[in-house]
Amino acid sequence: MSRCPGLLAACLISIAGGCDRMPGAALPERMADAPAPDTFQSLYATNCAGCHGADGTHAPARALRDGAYMAAVDDAYLTRVIADGAGLMMPAFAASQGGGLAPEQIQILVAGMRRGFAVPGVRVTMPGVFPGGGDVQRGQAAFASACASCHGNDSDGGEAGCVTSADFLRLVSDQALWTAVVFGRTDLGMPGAAGPFGQRVAPLSLQEARDLVAYLASLRPNY
Ligand code: HEC
Ligand code: HEC
Repeated sequence: MSRCPGLLAACLISIAGGCDRMPGAALPERMADAPAPDTFQSLYATNCAGCHGADGTHAPARALRDGAYMAAVDDAYLTRVIADGAGLMMPAFAASQGGGLAPEQIQILVAGMRRGFAVPGVRVTMPGVFPGGGDVQRGQAAFASACASCHGNDSDGGEAGCVTSADFLRLVSDQALWTAVVFGRTDLGMPGAAGPFGQRVAPLSLQEARDLVAYLASLRPNY
């Protein structure tokens, strides 16, 4: 039984619970009467900033102002995530899915993220979308060498909080684990696959990154 508290989930639940309306939910009638022209800034501030940060960093959900991450995902992926939501914690925003955004508004968001959050010239070798596969045993070994120095092990969360607890993992998708491992949370002091990881010097290989996601996913409860 894990004793380490789950990271992030509690934070996000409190954000969602503290709002008058869930981000992405349909706007009240009176606001729809006189629509102001949509800008990236207004759409992002209204729909995304609460979870991803006002400037795209330093928030509970992953940094979007992240040159490596933005270089690794294409517009079609970003459009799909915004429209359909992600995992259990990010709502769908497409009006066709019960959200509050029209396709043109989603396009404004994607174009604005490209303009404002991407860094021209950044090259990445790892895929942005989780390719699947991975070996649980090898992932456990990689966790001990690359992650435990900050995240501890199953009985002790470590300084950066616990990422092996069932409470955390049941709310977080494999895709979110993948992007955490590959691109890190450099805004919060977590390295991406290039490291450094404390004692360990070598960067994570593509296979090790897949193994790590397989290992963490194996700790997720099946209910
Ligand atoms: C209620 C909180 C919340 C809101 C609001 C929200 N997100 Fe998210 N977002 C998340 C979480 C949590 C995840 C990771 C979910 C998972 O995969 O488990 C996520 C995932 C993502 C991803 C994919 C990250 C990856 O790992 O590939 C993108 C891109 C994204 N969000 C963009 C946006 C944009 C743009 C908006 C505004 C339209 C938005 N989000 C609004 C919480 C939120
Ligand atoms: C140098 C310290 C450090 C190392 C090494 C490290 N992390 Fe992190 N990690 C952090 C910090 C700090 C956070 C942000 C914690 C918070 O949100 O309060 C974080 C967050 C996370 C998250 C949550 C992702 C999110 O979007 O908030 C996951 C999952 C994670 N780490 C997994 C890993 C894995 C797997 C490894 C090994 C490959 C690893 N970390 C290595 C410091 C580290």
